[in-house]
Amino acid sequence: MRTRVCDMFGIDVPIFGFTHCRDVAAAVSQAGGMGILGAATFSPEELERELRWLDENCGGRPYGVNVLMAESRTEGAEQDLQRLIPAGHRDFVQQLNERFEVPPLRDGAQDGGHGVARNMGLRSTHGWARPQLEVVFRHKPVVLFSALGPAPADVVERARQKGMKIGGMTGAGRHAEKHIAAGADIITATGYEGGGHNSDVTTMVLVPEVIEAAAGRVPVLAAGGIASGRQIAAALALGAEGAWLGTVWLPSVESDFEAGTIEQMLERGSHDTVRTKAWSGKPTRFLRNPWFDAWEEEGVPKPLGTPLQRILIQPAMTRIAAARMTHIMPVPIGQVVGQLRQRRRVRDIMQDLQKEYLDAIEHLNALQPAQ
Ligand SMILES: Cc1cc2nc3c(=O)[nH]c(=O)nc-3n(C[C@H](O)[C@H](O)[C@H](O)COP(=O)(O)O)c2cc1C
Repeated sequence: MRTRVCDMFGIDVPIFGFTHCRDVAAAVSQAGGMGILGAATFSPEELERELRWLDENCGGRPYGVNVLMAESRTEGAEQDLQRLIPAGHRDFVQQLNERFEVPPLRDGAQDGGHGVARNMGLRSTHGWARPQLEVVFRHKPVVLFSALGPAPADVVERARQKGMKIGGMTGAGRHAEKHIAAGADIITATGYEGGGHNSDVTTMVLVPEVIEAAAGRVPVLAAGGIASGRQIAAALALGAEGAWLGTVWLPSVESDFEAGTIEQMLERGSHDTVRTKAWSGKPTRFLRNPWFDAWEEEGVPKPLGTPLQRILIQPAMTRIAAARMTHIMPVPIGQVVGQLRQRRRVRDIMQDLQKEYLDAIEHLNALQPAQ
């Protein structure tokens, strides 16, 4: 399974594990892949703690970081942005709080975990990303992936000075062009099936499109809908030089999701996800739940753009998380959730992926050539 990216980063297998959980990231790296820590949910102080831990706990193996640097955005102080939110939207969120009986916060109950409960309405803005980047540059990730838009020129330059590669998260060939023009060394193409922000085009169609746009200049990783070695073989057959997996780690033993949420993940099928703008203002795939369904009803307001939608819903999300209302908590997840039926250690997932990959290749090799 060795490809160009193995030499690029000194990894054994071209499997990239995206996660917000440092234990998962370290375990992927220690198993020969590349753990990528999503910074989005962390304040600069928290990120400092997580990256210090990763510097010390990856057993000398490389790891990477992913920071949201949205291209299309409204920047500004939260109080100013609050004024742009229409009253009808505020009323609707208030109605949802009443309908789902979301209790008010108890004094001091600010943190329900997984970032959903922190004061993070601004988190897809550069105002949020810049202090995170200062932290990243104090640590030793080998690659910095920019999500929702290309990294600004000064960020690329500082990364180069630190010996870090730059990666770009994309959902279209034209995104890849922009990232490469901005200096990206590697591209991830995330298709429709994927958890979190993704593309309106499926992985099967998107990956060849992005590879064509990259035109051999940089390697392309396939993401979205990959949770088995068979799917990795398919991604490499499409021309990808590696696979980027997010959902598969969510119910792992190392995962920091709550037991109740993991139970839900292991029970749900591939049809039980929803691609919605109700979270960030951009289409994002989540485990379906009644709160997201409510945004699809007739006559309700359409979700706002980025970052207003997130600012709008943040207080409700904080309350939902603090009250541990698992049935309406937002869980980003991909359609491969339907393939996940047991809790496994990351090391075992990595081994299974490689074994299934070899079985898939053997299966293809055994096919009779046409007469
Ligand atoms: C819980 C979760 C959170 C995510 N957060 C981010 C993020 O902060 N930045 C990002 O670039 N992608 C994020 N993604 C998308 C992943 O990077 C990846 O593209 C996707 O999970 C791949 O599809 P899969 O879920 O089918 O494996 C997230 C995905 C999940 C499941």
